[in-house]
Order: sequence, then structure tokens, then C-alpha cells
Amino acid sequence: MLETYDDWRAFASPLLGSKTPPREVYWESDQQAPLFRVRSQAPDGPAVMIPKVFVALARTVARHSNPDRWRMLYRVAWRITNGERNLLEVDVDDDVAALRHMARAVDKDIYRMRQFVRFRKAGEERFIAWYEPEHNTLDANGSFFVDRFGSMRWAILTPRASLAWDLDRLESGPGVPRSHAPQDDELEELWRVYYGAIFNPARLKLRAMQAQLPLSRWKNLPEARAIPSLARLSQGRVQQMVEAQPRSALDFIPLNSSWSELRDAIRNCSACDLCRRGNGPVWGEGDLLAQVMIVGEQPGDEEDLAGRPFVGPAGQVLDRALAQAGIERQRVYLTNAVKAFKFEERGKRRIHQNPRSGEISTCRPWLRAEIEAVRPARIICLGSSAAQSVLGRKVQIAKERGHWAASGGRRVLVTYHPSAILRNPDPARQQQLYSMLVTDLSQARVDLNGGSVAEGR
Ligand code: URA
Repeated sequence: MLETYDDWRAFASPLLGSKTPPREVYWESDQQAPLFRVRSQAPDGPAVMIPKVFVALARTVARHSNPDRWRMLYRVAWRITNGERNLLEVDVDDDVAALRHMARAVDKDIYRMRQFVRFRKAGEERFIAWYEPEHNTLDANGSFFVDRFGSMRWAILTPRASLAWDLDRLESGPGVPRSHAPQDDELEELWRVYYGAIFNPARLKLRAMQAQLPLSRWKNLPEARAIPSLARLSQGRVQQMVEAQPRSALDFIPLNSSWSELRDAIRNCSACDLCRRGNGPVWGEGDLLAQVMIVGEQPGDEEDLAGRPFVGPAGQVLDRALAQAGIERQRVYLTNAVKAFKFEERGKRRIHQNPRSGEISTCRPWLRAEIEAVRPARIICLGSSAAQSVLGRKVQIAKERGHWAASGGRRVLVTYHPSAILRNPDPARQQQLYSMLVTDLSQARVDLNGGSVAEGR
């Protein structure tokens, strides 16, 4: 198996605990197995606390193919745990700069794989891609490819590892030599036609493309052979081609972006046409360090006008329920599963329409990116659209409400949407639903952090 951050940590933790200095540790490694040795066997020491920012950086650096990465990580971990607690804030430090440089190369490699993996048909309803990443980045892209190609069976083979999706589970496997991947087949032609359809000569920047993918790797891309002829196409086809582009929110989400970069990027999203109907997407708002994120369905009429979530009638019910549950609105982060208002025009009125499943999934990558940027420990889903987006399956609120479930490393609870309370014609039932909402929200009254409060659109 490949070396991972966890392999390194299992070895490094006791060494750090026993204060073994970096010069006492040999880090030998090959691509097949982790091999670490200590000059003299040190006794195990007490566990040491490593800051989360280091762990996040180290997880990325661990994917780098540089065999020296383990030694470099240990050196920085040792310095952090031996008096230089805030070392990572010192950008000019050589060790820190080297780790950050490696992390950037890994991030770039992850992004490049998303652009350049091409599947070929390999038997009935099976697709295979062979790809050579520079670093150990395949599994970091697993959920990206599941999101994008979840409805087909596929395998991505690389020289050091492979991943296979069978419509249900994602499995990791060993690396595969190029000779085992399909050579030429019917899909190759299809890819060329596909690339021809989406190819936009207005954007042809050969130099930029070479910078993304070294020429030596272009051999893996059937469409690369079509580029010279495509480049000669008339500008008249540009518009036609732009319109032929497949649309997914993933195409608009910059990799590893901050909360504010995501908020800005969503304004250019045209993965569906909802954002064009109203005043554009309404991004989430609240405490960016919140422990609790509350996800609604979609902005309503007033939210669309104000550019802020939960400011209309449903927002007022939510505010009241939060206050009764002992939760300050400024201490949580509020957002929606679908970022734009879906409505039907009747005269001067804009009537709310429920989002379809397809619209929830199209917008889902934005919510996922937002969750990754805010990193709440707990997520509360108001109503079934929010629950479907967060949990990735259909949910019946009456059956599942009020219990914390684990999902994607976070605790998730589903409850009624305030609009379901407002819409109910029976005042007694309204009161009952409202009490359940307050009870469920009360469960999130955990150590809600302070932090910077973000603004709406
Ligand atoms: N309903 C929602 O789900 N979200 C809002 O922002 C407003 C109403």
C-alpha cells in the first residue's frame, strides 16, 4: 500500500512524545511500503498535541511524491512541539515555505486530474481511465469523480493506485501498468467528437494548456490530436460551442477556495438557469467559525431581494425558534441547499416552487464546498431538500427528525422546515411542529464559538 499521512503519524507521534530530535530519525521510503527507522530506539513518550493547521497541511504534503517529505514533516512537527507553536504563521521560514510549496503542487495535481482524466469504454457499461498523476492524488479525487460520473461504473487506473466505482461503493486498489489499460476503442472517437463539441477556439491557449499538462502526457488524451484542426475553426462557431458545453456546478468551483472566493465564484455559475431568473444566488451568512451550520431549502422572495438567507417569514419563525432554543443567530452559519430562488410568475407575484431532485444535486457541490470552507462540526437540515443535499439520499422528515447521524465526518440532524409550519392550515398542528423544531434545535446548543461574522451578498 501507499504511504499515507496516517502511516507517518503512527510512527511520528511516539517519537515526538519522547522528544526524539529530527537528526536521530532515518526516513527511508519507497513507493511500495513505508519504512521508517530510528537511530536508537527511543522510549514511547506521552501523546503530543499537534495543531489542526499542521495536520491539514501535512495531509496534503503526505501526497507529494518527494521521498524526503516524511523527514521534512517531522522536522516541522518537532519544531512546532518544541517551542515554536506558531511556526506555520512564519511564511518566510524555509521549512514552512518548502511544505507550502509541496502542498501547492499537490493541490495543482488534484485539479489537473479533474481536467484530464478521460474514460474509455471497456466492456458492457464499464469505463476505464488510465492516468499518470505526478503525486499520490488519486483518492483525493474519489468524491469528485463519484459526483460527476456517479451513474456509470468506472475505474481509474494509475501506476501507483486505482479506484473503482460500482454505482454503490468506491474501492481502492493497487496500481496498474499502462499496458493493462484499454488502448484504442470506440470511445476514443467519441471523446474526439465530444471535445470537438465543447472546444472553444476563443479560449485556445496552447501555452497555458502545456503548462497544465506537460507535452509528454498529452499522449494519453485522444482529443489532443484533434487540437490543430480545431484551432483552425472559424470564430463563428464560438457561440455554438460555448452553448454545447456540459454544465456542472463543479466547473465553476475553484479548488481549495476560501469562503469569500466561493461566494464570488457562484455569481458566475450557469450550471442551471435558476440564478438567471431572480437576482442571482444567495450565499450563506453567519459565523465563519461556527460549530453549527443550518441548511434550508432555497431562498424565498424576500431573501432573493435582500441577497441574504432567512430574512422573510420563514426566517422569522426560525429566529424565534432559535431564540427559544437558546441559540444566537449570529453564532451559527445559515445557508441553503439550492442557492437561487425558484419561482413562477403570477401577475406581479413570484410564487415559490419546490426544487426538483436534479436541481438539488446540481447545486450540491456548492453546498459541499461551503461546508468544507466553514467546517462546522454539526449540520442541521431544515426540511427534506436540505436533508437530501447533505445526506445524499431522500429523507422523510417525520421518520428521521431529531436524531444526530454521522455523515461525512460530521453530525447531522434533520428537522422540520419553518415553512412547513407556516403552510400548515391547522393551528394546533402548527404549534406541535413548532415545538418539535425548537426541541430539535435545542440539541445543537453546544459550545457555539464566537468568530468573524460574514455579510450577505
Ligand atoms: N426558506 C429557506 O429554506 N431558506 C431561506 O433562506 C428562506 C426561506
